[in-house]
Formats: sequence, C-alpha cells, structure tokens
Amino acid sequence: METDLLQNTGISQHTEAQLRSLWGTGAIRLDLSIIDLQHIWLVALIQEFAFEAQADTTSADPDRIKRLLLEIIDFATEHFSLEERLTNAFEYPQHVSHKEQHHHFIEFMRSRLVDIKEGNKNSLASLVNFLMDWLTMHIQKEDRQYKDFLVQSGANLNKYFGQLIARHELTIDRAQAALYNAISGQSEVGEIINENILANVIRIWQTHNLAVHIPIIDLQHLWLISMIVELDIASKTVGTAKRQKIFNKVVAGAIEYTREHFSTEESIMEKFGYKQLPGHLKQHRAFIEMINNRQSEGTGGDPRAAQHLVEDLKEWLVSHIGIEDRNIYIALKENLHEIQAYVREMINENRLTVRKKQLDLYNQVCGIKKT
Ligand SMILES: [Fe+2]
Ligand SMILES: [Fe+2]
Ligand SMILES: [Fe+2]
Ligand SMILES: [Fe+2]
Repeated sequence: METDLLQNTGISQHTEAQLRSLWGTGAIRLDLSIIDLQHIWLVALIQEFAFEAQADTTSADPDRIKRLLLEIIDFATEHFSLEERLTNAFEYPQHVSHKEQHHHFIEFMRSRLVDIKEGNKNSLASLVNFLMDWLTMHIQKEDRQYKDFLVQSGANLNKYFGQLIARHELTIDRAQAALYNAISGQSEVGEIINENILANVIRIWQTHNLAVHIPIIDLQHLWLISMIVELDIASKTVGTAKRQKIFNKVVAGAIEYTREHFSTEESIMEKFGYKQLPGHLKQHRAFIEMINNRQSEGTGGDPRAAQHLVEDLKEWLVSHIGIEDRNIYIALKENLHEIQAYVREMINENRLTVRKKQLDLYNQVCGIKKT
C-alpha cells in the first residue's frame, strides 16, 4: 500500500522505512503539520542522498549525488525561510539565534557542494552523518523550542499558514503531501501549487537574495527567473504533451535570452575594466554548454529533462547570480552612473533591447520606475 501512495514521489522504499522509524520514535515530529511535512521531506532528501553516497563506487552516480545535495540546500533554504518568517511574525525571543543556526548550516553545505564538485568525495560518509545529526538535533532542540513558545503564546498557526497559502507564499508539491500523509497517517494536507508566476519570482528573488543592484542586470535576471518559474510550474502540473511543448519553448527562449544577457553583462564588465572578467566568462561559457546539453536531453524525449533543467537553472541562480554577479556590483559600484549612461547608449544603438514586459516585471519586483 505504501509504495502505491508514494509512486512518482522519487522516494525509495528504503527511505520510507527509515522515515517511518524516525517518525515512530518522535525524532522528527513536532505536531505542526506544515513544519512536519517539510521536515519529513528534508529528511527524505537526506536519506536518498545517504543511500546514494554509501553505494559502492561502481554503482554510485556522481551526478545524482550532486543533484541531491543541491536539492537539500535548496529545500533547506525554503524551509528555513518559512520558519524564520513564522518566528519573526510571532516575535519569538530567540528568533535571531535560530536564524543564525540556519545560516551557518547553509553556508557549510554550500562549501561542501563546492568540494564535491571539485571531485573531493572521500568524506561523503561523514557528511551524511553530519546531516542527519544536525537536522535531528536541530528539530529536537531549536525547532521544538520555538514550537513550545508558539503553543504557549496561543498563536493561531492554521490561520497564519492559510494566509501564506492565500498570498502564494507557501507551496507544497504533490510528492511532499503524499509522503507526509503516508508517514504521519494524516490526510489533511494536500498539494498546494503556486501557479502565480510573479509570486514565485518574488519568492525566489527574496529567498536567495539575488538583487545585484545594477538595474539592467537585475531586470535581465528577473526575466530569466520568470522563465525558470514557468518551466517549474509546467513540469509539476501539466500533462506530458503540454509539458514537452512548454519545455521546448522555454529552453529555446532561455538559450536565446541567456546569450543576450551574457552579452550585456560582458560588455559592462569589459567597458569598466572588471578584473575578474576571464573567470566570469568561463562560467558563462560553461552555463551555455550545460543548457545546450539539457536541450538535447529534452528533445531526445527524456521525461526528467524539464525537472533537471529547473534544478540546474536554480543552482545557477544561487551560485552564479548570488555570488559572481554580485561581485560585479561590489567592484563597480562607484561607476553606477556611468554604467547607466552606457546602458542608455547601448539601447540607443540597438545593441540592447528592453521589452515592456521585462520592464514591468522589474518594476513590480524592485518597485523602481527607471532603468
Ligand atoms: Fe529551524
Ligand atoms: Fe526546521
Ligand atoms: Fe554573470
Ligand atoms: Fe548574470
């Protein structure tokens, strides 16, 4: 019965058994439905990662290991940001120190991801132990403390989560709901997909703190994010034929638009003598290559291509935009006026096009009327 329920969630029977036993001992259970759901999902991702990392070297799939680690970082970020909003909204006294713990965890995981990408795999086993220990301890200590506080202060959490859902600020996908219902024996949580593109863009923008503060670059990044969001929603909600159509459309659009964006960004870096230009160019080239590969995977009919592409693009956002592109601003912030003048020059000479829709999106997210 269990496996029927969990079909298409990507969660293995092995992980399901682990989750049942952890849930049974109370180790990951706080009796706060949405938070429990997210904790279960996070532990499931870690268990899948552990399973893959502990496989013997011949059967381990390095691509899947990397992908799962990314998913853990991504989902942990989403979960932490929900807890931080919650504890902030109800004025939990330890809000700041709780947030700091989350922050350190994410920083640590990001540095481990870099190690693993560089081929340093010898400490995967200790990473697996660390992940499980950290998470169960954090849930039992820090998370339980805020839960107790919320219960004592009489906070109306159902109302609070309901408001987040209504404002499209909280999403639960089908797999997460199915897993939670199977493990907890509850049936009250259903899938809540946020199909509002703008709300999703804003959530990603804020969660990962992606503003670079150079208007034209922010505008182009936002447009790329809206493409990713469109693909993400499609890959989760629509049937195969339509999904394939959206996949083809978005990939073609993303490739074209990425070239346009890179050329703008590179012209600015070149014009203003940005010192890290060669390394930055290399990353841009690698990205184009990756997206081309995904395109051939998708047109070759691989059904996971859309979801893989979404994951790759999200990783790009966090690692490249959030770090490398932000460095451009840090280096060139004294030249902001000159950059604006240069952008106008490019627009006048037709070397750069800003479409009305892009400008609207930028204004809606950044609330500034000028580029
Ligand atoms: Fe927490
Ligand atoms: Fe938590
Ligand atoms: Fe860049
Ligand atoms: Fe960029």
